[in-house]
Amino acid sequence: MTDTPKIEERENGPLVVSNIPNLRGPDGEMETKQVMALCRCGASKKKPFCDGSHNDAGFESRGGKPAGRDRVMPFEGKEVTVNFNPMLCAHAAECGRLAGHIFDSSKRPWIQPDEGTVEEVKAVVAACPSGALSLALSEDDVTHIVTDKVEIRVQEHGPYWVQNIAPPVPMDAVGGTDEKYVLCRCGLSGNKPFCDGSHRDAKWRDDT
Ligand code: SF4
Ligand code: FES
Repeated sequence: MTDTPKIEERENGPLVVSNIPNLRGPDGEMETKQVMALCRCGASKKKPFCDGSHNDAGFESRGGKPAGRDRVMPFEGKEVTVNFNPMLCAHAAECGRLAGHIFDSSKRPWIQPDEGTVEEVKAVVAACPSGALSLALSEDDVTHIVTDKVEIRVQEHGPYWVQNIAPPVPMDAVGGTDEKYVLCRCGLSGNKPFCDGSHRDAKWRDDT
């Protein structure tokens, strides 16, 4: 038995997490147990914990089609270039909230690094929970910015944000990282176990 934090998926069932030092909910830190089953079908009445509802809900842990394409799109600026993978984007909108003058989905291109400072760009890449955003420090480079914190954050009406815990299955998206990623909690993603932003399109809520 090791103390290494771990996330495993049960087929057509919950995520089973062990040795997680920090579980943060929308209202702050949550009490943790050594082993916990987290809902990912979206139907539990005890969210974020599993109550067995996945059986009645007929939840399937695979299937569907990712909402975005798996590719790295570079957005070049004079001093810094930003990479973006649409399939990984969880529509968390941290980018627009932190620096709407650089990351504006109503504009084309939607990322304009020269509209802000390099520091602002780096702060947003660091805040992007899914790893959809990274820096290109040289040609074909993908550099993520990740803090040291080991945690799972439960987003209100949204997914699990994970940092510094190995994913339940290898992250095989181009330009993705195992160090930070976003796991589906609504059951609707076409890229399970990862979130593909479908919760936002479906207006999924915690209280459903
Ligand atoms: S996941 Fe990253 S790129 Fe997507 S909306 Fe959130 S901050 Fe922006
Ligand atoms: S929580 Fe984002 S697609 Fe399910």
